[in-house]
Amino acid sequence: MIAAVRGTRDILPGESERWQYVEDIARRLFERYGYAEVRTPIIEREELFAKGTGETTDIVQKEMYAFTDKGGERVTLRPEATPSLVRAFVEHHLEQQMAVPKLYCLGPMFRYERPQKGRYRQFHQLDVEVFGVEDASIDAEMIDLAWSLVRELGVREAELLINSVGCPVCRPSFSAALVSALGEDVARLCADCRRRAGTNPLRIFDCKVPADQPIIDRLPHAVDHLCEACATHFSAVQQHLDAYGIPYRISHRLVRGLDYYTRTTFEILSGSLGAQNALLGGGRYDGLVKVLGGPDRTGIGFAAGIERLVLALPEDAPIEVARPHVFVAAIGDAARREAARLVKELRSAGLRAQLDYEGRSIRSQMKTADRAGAPLAAILGDDELAKNEVTMRNMASGDQTPIARRDVIDYIRLASADEGAPMAQPE
Ligand code: HAM
Repeated sequence: MIAAVRGTRDILPGESERWQYVEDIARRLFERYGYAEVRTPIIEREELFAKGTGETTDIVQKEMYAFTDKGGERVTLRPEATPSLVRAFVEHHLEQQMAVPKLYCLGPMFRYERPQKGRYRQFHQLDVEVFGVEDASIDAEMIDLAWSLVRELGVREAELLINSVGCPVCRPSFSAALVSALGEDVARLCADCRRRAGTNPLRIFDCKVPADQPIIDRLPHAVDHLCEACATHFSAVQQHLDAYGIPYRISHRLVRGLDYYTRTTFEILSGSLGAQNALLGGGRYDGLVKVLGGPDRTGIGFAAGIERLVLALPEDAPIEVARPHVFVAAIGDAARREAARLVKELRSAGLRAQLDYEGRSIRSQMKTADRAGAPLAAILGDDELAKNEVTMRNMASGDQTPIARRDVIDYIRLASADEGAPMAQPE
């Protein structure tokens, strides 16, 4: 047997319905907020993420599935969607085509991380981005969209964290303040943090090493070092969130592991997930569009891990598994031909119909109907053919009723109205 690659998984029937449920709710929600779908390629040039996600990030340094293709070009499987959506926005001049460029995409991402529950090497994101709006009201609307997604999915134990990481005006002095607050202690930090102190001191707040925590807890907070414009923006974001009535907590450690963030960052965690508890994360990235060769436009967005949303769904989420409306059973060659015709008619009428392919006994066809979960069986034999009828069997009670052949579709529609059977189309 050849098994799936470590860190990747098959989404099988039984679970795929849960994915469809999450994706359907997300798409409908994004559309209500004015977002349109973009489908970007899964492979991109490596430099898109080196420049976009950032050279100092774990993603770019350790986790990319990057390779040289047969034409000698450096490409990579995308580790995240934000740089791809920025590229598409710039490359196709979407600004000229959309009043407010609000884009979403969904699909697989790839990061060479250590797999564990909720963390995979191929995982899937729902990603939302909006370009060119500077006002804090869009930060709040973006957070509201993320919060609404989690609420509409019925996820319990969700907590919203927000922070501001400043901008190129105030970041350098905050980084310097961090380094000076660390002082001699820097030598007692883990190797990663010692490196971060030199390259990107903010990232020290991401450290999970227990021995480092007492030192990190004493460090100053970004929100106390914001320039006036960033401070005003952050307090406006909070006022809008208060107006929406969305509960949040300011987390000084929420700096996020990607280089492009400016000002607002946010995450939604769920207690039901275990160690990998971030359902989604995002923030503002006001310099990224320009860095990637576009006009000087702001951006903000978030991405949610679909695996984690699916894991966090409540037990009683109304997930429908599409059972057949009817199983058509037939005895004898003529009846089998008629069964195939009937099944085709039923399917054309929008009904889910199955049949037996092997010419098995009626008993074993009834067993198959049961296993398939069909509430009704339509039985055809020589008698039924002679009378131009079908015997309809209620699989639960075993009751059987002869129905005229021409009335079969209406009968099934009526009997399975609760199963979501489509009603007759007006002529
Ligand atoms: P991120 O925090 O790296 O942000 O990922 C967002 C979400 O993707 C996480 O909260 C988590 O649910 C999911 N995720 C990340 N890595 C894995 C993994 N290995 N296995 C399973 N799920 C995972 C971004 O990717 C940014 N592009 C978000 C963003 C959009 N910021 C602005 N716009």
